[in-house]
Amino acid sequence: MKPVEIRSRVYSVGAIDWDRRLFDALIPLPDGTSYNSYLIKGSEKIALIDTVDPTMGDVLMHRLSGLGVESIDYIVASHAEQDHSGALPRVIEKYPSARVVATPKCKGMLIDLLLIPEERFITVGDKETLSLGDKTLEFIHAPWVHWPETMLTYLREDRILFPGDLFGSHLATTDLYVRDEGQVYEAAKRYYAEIMMPFRTNIQKHLEKIKDYEIDIIAPSHGPIYDRPEFILEAYHSWVFDEPKNIVVLPYVSMHGSTRKMVEYFVGALAQNGVTVKQFDLTVTDIGKLAMALVDAATVVMGTPTVLVGPHPQVAYAVLLANALRPKLRFISIIGSYGWGGKAVEQLAGMIPNLKVEILEPVLSKGFPKEADLKALDSLASTIAQKHKENHFA
Ligand code: FEO
Repeated sequence: MKPVEIRSRVYSVGAIDWDRRLFDALIPLPDGTSYNSYLIKGSEKIALIDTVDPTMGDVLMHRLSGLGVESIDYIVASHAEQDHSGALPRVIEKYPSARVVATPKCKGMLIDLLLIPEERFITVGDKETLSLGDKTLEFIHAPWVHWPETMLTYLREDRILFPGDLFGSHLATTDLYVRDEGQVYEAAKRYYAEIMMPFRTNIQKHLEKIKDYEIDIIAPSHGPIYDRPEFILEAYHSWVFDEPKNIVVLPYVSMHGSTRKMVEYFVGALAQNGVTVKQFDLTVTDIGKLAMALVDAATVVMGTPTVLVGPHPQVAYAVLLANALRPKLRFISIIGSYGWGGKAVEQLAGMIPNLKVEILEPVLSKGFPKEADLKALDSLASTIAQKHKENHFA
């Protein structure tokens, strides 16, 4: 693709990765992704905002050549992760006078990760500016977007915010700008859930920090550009600041049908109590969808059979994931079955130190659930509904 001008002398020069299906050897990418890079030609200096994944270096180099770029003065490194910095060694080799602009921490990480020579760097402080002539870059330190070295860049004259990973979406599309807000909302929420949610309190501070900037365009490092910034700013506000909703997330595994019977009964009981339930069979679940459901949920109830005296390993994995993602959850419980005994509850309860949750009385059935077990599920469902009501979770 040819470079595209998004404002006068501001170009999109990154790469679309249609076929990538896994990120960090962990995160599913059902819709591919993009590695966005932006070239800014000032009247005196030229700056590149980020590079691309090393697998896409040819695309970036080709697009820079297409713009007739013979020299670059500054390469802004918003973030040291290789999907944005991986092509940096190649770019600094091709453009020997270019200096890498980064936070002090990012400089150290780029030296460690990519062996970039120290003399190639300029470090910048929070709110420091860099003039390109008739265009000015302002750097906004924003640690923990989702690594500790990250910063945002604001192009003052064009009122464009380049926030790195923040506000991004793993979405391969030929749309330079968001055209289908429903589709991008889903992709951006998935991205937030998987990558930004563990740093929710940091993200709150960053939203506060940028709230007085006049922003016409948000150009993130992944996915389409926002020419209606309030769309993604409002979505982020609701994800990071709002109270959880009247939702129970119910990830489960069933081996011989007892836990499944309990899950089915319990989902019905919760629905009768006016609670929305999102049920996930962990043997087939896309963990990105589970992460998205955790963004708004007030309660998680895990459904597990007992395996080797503990929870099913896939349930343990989901609990580990929820603990790492640090969602806004307030309550957690466990339902399931056992044959002759076990310690599933104790083991799962020990796996959630990051979650500030109240543990509600679990319901475990010996073998197939009987009348008393179903009654206990009714009681748990009504307790959850009551707790949500008392907390005004709508
Ligand atoms: Fe898109 Fe954290 O790299």
